[in-house]
Amino acid sequence: MGVDLFAGRNSAALPPLARAPRILVFDSGVGGLTVLAELRAARPDAAFTYAADDAAFPYGALADERLVARVLSVMERLIARERPDIVVIACNTASTLALPALRARFALPFVGTVPAVKPAVAASTSGLVTVLATPGTVRREHTREMVEAFAGQTEVTLVGSRTLAAYAEAELSGAPVSDDAIRAELAPCFVERDGRRTDAVALACTHFPLLTKRFERLAPWPAAFIDPAPAVARRVAALAAHASGTEPPPPGRAVFTSDRAQPEALVAALRARGLPRVENDVILLTD
Ligand code: DGL
Repeated sequence: MGVDLFAGRNSAALPPLARAPRILVFDSGVGGLTVLAELRAARPDAAFTYAADDAAFPYGALADERLVARVLSVMERLIARERPDIVVIACNTASTLALPALRARFALPFVGTVPAVKPAVAASTSGLVTVLATPGTVRREHTREMVEAFAGQTEVTLVGSRTLAAYAEAELSGAPVSDDAIRAELAPCFVERDGRRTDAVALACTHFPLLTKRFERLAPWPAAFIDPAPAVARRVAALAAHASGTEPPPPGRAVFTSDRAQPEALVAALRARGLPRVENDVILLTD
């Protein structure tokens, strides 16, 4: 397979560190919070910065070259500012495209998020599985390679939703999205063939696990919704094993790249996820 999303050539043999790790978690918006929760459970002592490139959201709509250039330039600034020990690209749309360029540019371990094709195939008894992602992730060569490598006899349907990530953002910001709107995005995930039905859906956009309860309620029949965040957190914990200290962790920070003030409901949601400090580091998207 072209890209190793979980390791990276900069991750080998890190020297021991007498303090807790600084971990930078990055996404286009608030989807990476689903990964942050698992990371925090795995390393409660770590110093976390959560960065959302909301000035460029949604990444799923950006052309490939533009997305790579954008991720590199935002990361340049964030790494200089945060000095992380590990960077987690908590975004499938960016990981499946930009990880090689990030690893070539920065001498740091990067951990990406991978569409959970293999676990979904393993969870299926019907032989019908869906990968639900952004349109960007669906059209990636890397996604197709994963399907080829892991599908075996299982039929994998790729569904690219243009709106679900924005729905997840809206819900967390206190603007409810109707059941009908979510049901319409979910419908193409559920396939019936020769009396068999889709029974596993890989959530291949980090925003989607924010909506898992809605998906379970609105699905036309029961299916497993698979979130790769616990696997990402295990990988990060292994990479960070060289770092431990005795100080309590500093309060987590959320950094947004737009110049917008975040809605009250979102600020409260960030606080509840261990990010009491919310800042803007404005990096507007230029044409
Ligand atoms: N959270 C991102 C992902 O995992 C994408 C959302 C977007 O389109 O910006 O793919």
